[in-house]
Order: sequence, then structure tokens, then C-alpha cells
Amino acid sequence: MGRRQELEKRQTLLARFGRLIATENRLDSLLTIIAEEVRNILDADRCSVFLVDSYKGELWTRVALGMEEKILRMPLGQGIAGFVAKTGSAVNIRDAYRDTRFTQDLDRITSYQTRSVLAVPLKGHDGQVLGVFEVLNKARGPFTDEDDGLLRILGTMAASFIENASLYDELRRSHLETIYRMALVAEFRDQQDTGKHLRRMSRISGILASAMGMSYHESEDIRYASPLHDIGKVAIPDSILRKPDKLSFEEYEEMKRHTIYGSQMLIHAESRLLRLAAVVAIAHHENYDGTGYPYGLKGEAIPIEARIVSVADVFDALTSKRVYKGAWTLADTLAHIKAQAGKQFDPAVVERLQVCFAEVVAAMAEEDQRTAAEENLMTPPAVPGQISQKSLQA
Ligand code: C2E
Ligand code: SIN
Ligand code: SIN
Ligand code: FE
Repeated sequence: MGRRQELEKRQTLLARFGRLIATENRLDSLLTIIAEEVRNILDADRCSVFLVDSYKGELWTRVALGMEEKILRMPLGQGIAGFVAKTGSAVNIRDAYRDTRFTQDLDRITSYQTRSVLAVPLKGHDGQVLGVFEVLNKARGPFTDEDDGLLRILGTMAASFIENASLYDELRRSHLETIYRMALVAEFRDQQDTGKHLRRMSRISGILASAMGMSYHESEDIRYASPLHDIGKVAIPDSILRKPDKLSFEEYEEMKRHTIYGSQMLIHAESRLLRLAAVVAIAHHENYDGTGYPYGLKGEAIPIEARIVSVADVFDALTSKRVYKGAWTLADTLAHIKAQAGKQFDPAVVERLQVCFAEVVAAMAEEDQRTAAEENLMTPPAVPGQISQKSLQA
């Protein structure tokens, strides 16, 4: 290719890069797009974007491990990327394994062999280092000074978009966290394993929603809104909520009002997720055959989100110990839910539960194993279609 054609090609690629990154405001998708484009433009085998977590004093990046994506973290200062983040200067090396700064940690985890590395700092609007752009294993020869210049231009173009997306991500995460902690508050009086119940029913709701053909975003919304389904129980007196045996008729009538209380608390919210939670709160005890409460809605008149959460809620309630009952086995629980298809539950949702049963059981086991320290990990998943995300903490 002639010099002129090469410059024209480069212009086209840069313009395309600018267009693509301007259309994405979600951090996870933005980072995916950036990595893919930068890899192509620089003719490299890989591109990693590392971002600084100044709160923890770490750098993190997403890596693909087979079908899964994981967040890998390392201390600022460690590795090539850590060196670049700490010093703010670029690094260009031909053979990583001969460079003492290179730790091989990422290579080991991802079964990769890094040879050439070009890494430049990614700077924010006021000059602070936001992260590091790294390209690995150039197709032909080592990275050149021209590649270095190009990677810096791409970094400059991407920086403000990454900054905005991070802010948006942070806002979204604190919103989700607040919702989740509201739900924790509501359940706190009710159960010993508060967090576990909420996380499990939230996971099951998400799995059922996507199995029902809902989009990734719709399923995620259900996953995040569902923990609030019983928020109205905060208004139920302890004498009823914590009664160790069967409720009287009057007590049960009062208990049923938790659906109405919950929706009153949420319905006028500005937040879309909270309004969805209101819908779930009011209708999660409606039965498919019209015998439920509070309104006796029937069939498709019950919002689909509530029909899904209803199955997830009862599944989890039955398999858990309550003040008034012991835990049921998985087999008894599934048999009970199947027997209620078309009665208490939407048969389509029950059918999906059977199809996804292994996934549901695995998700429950995963939530059971989470430690209290991970209690705040209601983080958005890394990539569409993926619910599980664990960080490999160094
Ligand atoms: P929860 O404990 O979260 O239960 C949610 C739903 O799971 C129940 O809605 C019911 O559909 C199902 N479920 C739970 N345990 C059983 C069970 O042993 N057998 C069957 N067949 N289904 C079960 P429901 O019945 O409308 O109850 C709503 C809430 O009222 C319950 O939430 C719980 O907080 C309270 N509650 C219900 N029954 C009793 C009771 O006998 N004693 C006490 N103390 N509370 C109760
Ligand atoms: C990096 O690639 O910059 C970090 C990984 C390492 O140094 O092993
Ligand atoms: C982080 O762990 O700080 C970022 C993870 C994410 O964006 O989901
Ligand atoms: Fe309920």
C-alpha cells in the first residue's frame, strides 16, 4: 500500500472509531467496542483496556475466559499496565518475557503468550490517568513510533467517552445498590438469611425472564426490581410477620396488604425500575386462575413480570426455612409448582422453570456460597447474556 493510501485508510478507521464510540454510553459495551476497534486499527492480536479504580488503588480489566468474562484486578504499579498507570509514560517492548515489569499473571490466567506490547496511558480531561490502553502481539514486527502515536490519538478520542460512561455506570450501580439495600431493610426483620433469599429470588426471576424470551435489558430490569416485591412487609407488625405458627384469618388478611403497601411506596417513583418494582409488588400474589390477591386478576391480566416473580418467590420460599415452616426439598418444590401450573402459576413460566431447572439450581447454589463480604455485589453483569461475574481478586 502506498503512503497516501495508508493515510487515507487510517483516516477512515479513525472516523469510524469516533462514530462507534460516540453511540455507546454503557461502559461494558463501550470497552468491548474500543478493544475490538483498536485491535484492528493497530493490527494487533489483542487489545486490553485497563481502568484505574482509585478507591481501591487498583487497575481492572475485563478478560474473556472461554464463554465467560471476568474482571481481573491488579495493584497499581504492578505489571506493564500498572507501570504505565503509575508513571503516566508509554511503554513499547518487543519481548515481554524479557521485561522485568511483566508479571505473566494475565497470560497465565488467560493461557496466552504475550510477545510485543505497546501500552499508553489514558488521560482524563484534567490530565489524571484514567487507565491504560494496551495492544499485544502485532501481526508483523514490533510496534513502531507511529503505532505509539496512533494509539495515543485513539486513547485521547476514547478518554472522554470512557469518563462519561464510568460516571453513568457509577450512577447506575449506586441506584441498583440503593434498591437492593431497600429490599434488605424490608426483609431484615423477617428472616435470618435476608440477603440470600433476595439474591436467589432475584437470580431465578432473571433466569425465568430471559427464558421467557425477554430481552437482556428486560430480564435485567426484572432481576433488579424483583427483590423489592415484599417491601410492603415493613408495614406489617412483628406479631404477624414473626408469628411462629399459622396466621389467623384476620392476620392473613392484614398480611395480604403487603402487596398494596408495597405498591403505594413505589408507584409514583421517577425511576423506571422502582415503578416496575411497584407492578411486581402489587401483583406477585395474584394467581393465574384468578384466586389470588389483592384483586383476583386472572391469566394475562396479571403483568408478566409478576407471573415470573410469583414462581421465583414461591420456589425460593418453599426451599427456604421460614419462622412458620421448614425447608422443602428441591424435588418436592418442583412437584408442587408443576401441580400448580394453570392454577396458582402461569403454565408457560412453569414450563420454563422445568427447562431451566439445572441453571436455577446452579444459581441458587452460587448465591448460597457468597460470603457476607460480597453482599454488595449486585453489579451489572459484564456482557449481555451473562449473569455471573466474579472478580479474580489478586
Ligand atoms: P413468604 O413466606 O415469603 O411466602 C411467599 C409465598 O410462598 C406464599 O404466599 C405461598 O404462596 C408460598 N408458600 C410459602 N410457604 C408455603 C407452604 O408451606 N406451602 C405452600 N403451599 N405455599 C407456601 P402467601 O401464602 O400469600 O403468604 C404471603 C406471606 O404471608 C408469606 O411470605 C409469609 O410472610 C406470610 N405467611 C403466610 N403463611 C403464613 C403462616 O402460616 N405463618 C406466618 N407466620 N406467616 C405466614
Ligand atoms: C499487563 O499486561 O500490563 C499486565 C500483565 C502483566 O504484566 O503480566
Ligand atoms: C469494577 O469492578 O470496578 C467494575 C466492574 C463493572 O463495571 O461491572
Ligand atoms: Fe409477598
